[in-house]
Amino acid sequence: MSIKELLKKIDIERIPKHVAIIMDGNGRWAKRHNLPRIAGHREGAKRVRKIVEVSKNLGIKVLTLYAFSTENWLRPKKEIKALMHLLVIFLRKELKSLKRDNVKLTYCGNIKEFPKAIREEIIKTAKATIDNTALILNLALNYGGRDEIIRAINNILNEHGKKTDITPEIFSRYLYTADLPDPDLLIRTSGEKRISNFLLWQIAYTELYFTPVLWPDFKENDFLEAILDYQNRERRFGSV
Ligand code: IPE
Ligand code: IPE
Ligand code: MG
Repeated sequence: MSIKELLKKIDIERIPKHVAIIMDGNGRWAKRHNLPRIAGHREGAKRVRKIVEVSKNLGIKVLTLYAFSTENWLRPKKEIKALMHLLVIFLRKELKSLKRDNVKLTYCGNIKEFPKAIREEIIKTAKATIDNTALILNLALNYGGRDEIIRAINNILNEHGKKTDITPEIFSRYLYTADLPDPDLLIRTSGEKRISNFLLWQIAYTELYFTPVLWPDFKENDFLEAILDYQNRERRFGSV
């Protein structure tokens, strides 16, 4: 379907508040084009701007993008370095448009393990956009769902001792996503049908959408297709 047709079909009253994306398939895209994996990451990074813009225009409130997982440290050093470099380039290049578009940049994950220069760039961008209100662009950086849950448990124990009665509400407040609603829709590109340690607690009732499109090929119409598919589902939350 064309963008125009998709926009006509999408119900503006039922836009998901929080969309999370596992941006997967950069390496396979590069292979298909006879290019090094890093070229795939570079092309993938370019896709982010449009998806942010469309999210904002549709009225999505939070867009969480899985950019680096706690398991991605297993990759070759050269690839990890290139990913960090691309992140800094992205932040520097996009700061202007984030400000112009009233987008607030936040992050979830243990960025303490990132090199200092990278960490500083992330924090700088977050600070520069902290008052923006149209959309939250939440980057998952050195993020792992299990890591997040264990970290929450340790923090609760340190603060309250063993006697606290933990409720799901209290627990959620100790997650990186404490200030965010749970995702309504989770998209994974590249045809893999797994979660890969992403937002394990938060996706309890999230609608899952898997597409074979590789992330560097993921365009506005692919994103709109996902939203439309989401709108055709019946969410029950355990009720009838
Ligand atoms: C996703 O693309 C990007 C990151 C994980 C950082 P991949 O690099 O995982 O691409 P494939 O899965 O090898 O195609
Ligand atoms: C998930 O993709 C992580 C990100 C997109 C950042 P991976 O490519 O790392 O996941 P697996 O290894 O295929 O499960
Ligand atoms: Mg992958």
